[in-house]
Amino acid sequence: MSLLITNGRVITAADDYVADVYCENGTITAIGKDLPSHRFQAERTIDASGKYVMPGGIDVHTHLDMPFGGTCSSDDFETGTIAAAFGGTTSLVDFAIQYRGKTMRHALDDWMAKASGKAVIDYSFHMILTELPDAGLSDMDTMVRQGITSFKLFMAYPGVFMVDDATIFRALRRTGENGGLVCMHAENGGVIDVLVQEALRKGEKAPKYHALTRPSRAEGEATGRAIALAEIAGVPIYIVHLSSADALEKIRHARDMGLPAYAETCPQYLFLSYDNYEEPGFNGAKYVMSPPLREKWHQDVLWKGLAKNDLQVISTDHCPFCMSEQKELGKDDFSKIPNGAPGIETRLTLVHNGGVRGGRISLNRFVELCSTTPARMFGLFPRKGTIAVGSDADIVIFDPDARQTLGVKTLHMRVDYNPYEGTVVQGAPSAVISNGTVIVEGGKFVGRKGAGRFIKRGPSQAPSGL
Ligand code: URP
Ligand code: ZN
Ligand code: ZN
Repeated sequence: MSLLITNGRVITAADDYVADVYCENGTITAIGKDLPSHRFQAERTIDASGKYVMPGGIDVHTHLDMPFGGTCSSDDFETGTIAAAFGGTTSLVDFAIQYRGKTMRHALDDWMAKASGKAVIDYSFHMILTELPDAGLSDMDTMVRQGITSFKLFMAYPGVFMVDDATIFRALRRTGENGGLVCMHAENGGVIDVLVQEALRKGEKAPKYHALTRPSRAEGEATGRAIALAEIAGVPIYIVHLSSADALEKIRHARDMGLPAYAETCPQYLFLSYDNYEEPGFNGAKYVMSPPLREKWHQDVLWKGLAKNDLQVISTDHCPFCMSEQKELGKDDFSKIPNGAPGIETRLTLVHNGGVRGGRISLNRFVELCSTTPARMFGLFPRKGTIAVGSDADIVIFDPDARQTLGVKTLHMRVDYNPYEGTVVQGAPSAVISNGTVIVEGGKFVGRKGAGRFIKRGPSQAPSGL
């Protein structure tokens, strides 16, 4: 299969130029101005005049088909990856969960079975660790050899995922030997649990108390502790879904000291705020996620962090639950509302509209945050995350003038609400290409269920500085 994309404005993390891009058998094989048609005869040609030709988005934080909060996230690997593709994301890194008493091998087999034959774009997994007995240390090495080169640990959700500092430290130490990277959910779960119990005793049961019992200081404290543990272990650390100025301050301080501390934030923390919890009735449940949405002023601080590279990645933490039957589980008690919200489809459009058009980040930085650095951080670069000869032909043709109204009716995620319902954005993918094959065009999915491949990842490039 060959594909020629003509006259597009090629945008990478570093470049911005008009050229033709030729792809053969899933790989970019030539880039140049006016590629001679006798040498580059393609089965399919797309005219990308006036559009951006960018590397496909890479979402390194999704939860598809994940049992959580007494239910299961509502998108599976078919519906979730189709929605991702509509939004211009062509690779994702989801999470396999090693439950207590079970092995990492077991977890990986389970999540491979969920994804294979269903995913329409390429995928990989981080491994969530809920315990780390001695045997687990060598299992970590095995995982890294098999391309699962990152591990998520939780400082929150006591009794579910939370692990103690010794476990975190053991995992960090081991990554120093096997080349893995620890990703941390940094919130002080013990403090939060006390606050939650206090609130429930006082009869404070509405969704907004989810946010009021998870203060940003609890995120800042855990972020600082995680960085300190990584410093003692002598390894890099990556903080997931960073939401607050308090946590960002810890990252900035660490980076100023020359420590390899990295973090991602997510669109919900850039575009939504605590005010959403004050929406009438039970609507605040739509935004129940951890960490919670913060007061609006945090947004500006996060944007500055993105612009100055104190934050390196924008992921989604896509973890959708329907209001009906799922979020409803917490109708009378906020602590029973499943934590998470949809976002896999709206990342590029929101960040382009609010970030690039809003004058907060450049086009190159947009690509860097949503594709190139995620690829480098998680061992996918240069195969993915850029437009270069030899890279996978995962490409988004992005129309900067297209307007889209975000909402349940226009989007494709399998969930009965959207946090951005009615928001109009400018700039959207007009065609999405995965491994050299067009999978979205003309507003339709034209790819194939199961075409996505498991990608064996290499080590993170974080140790060499990002
Ligand atoms: O509320 C969230 N973030 N749900 C997904 C699980 C997690 O902690 O990432
Ligand atoms: Zn988390
Ligand atoms: Zn998550």
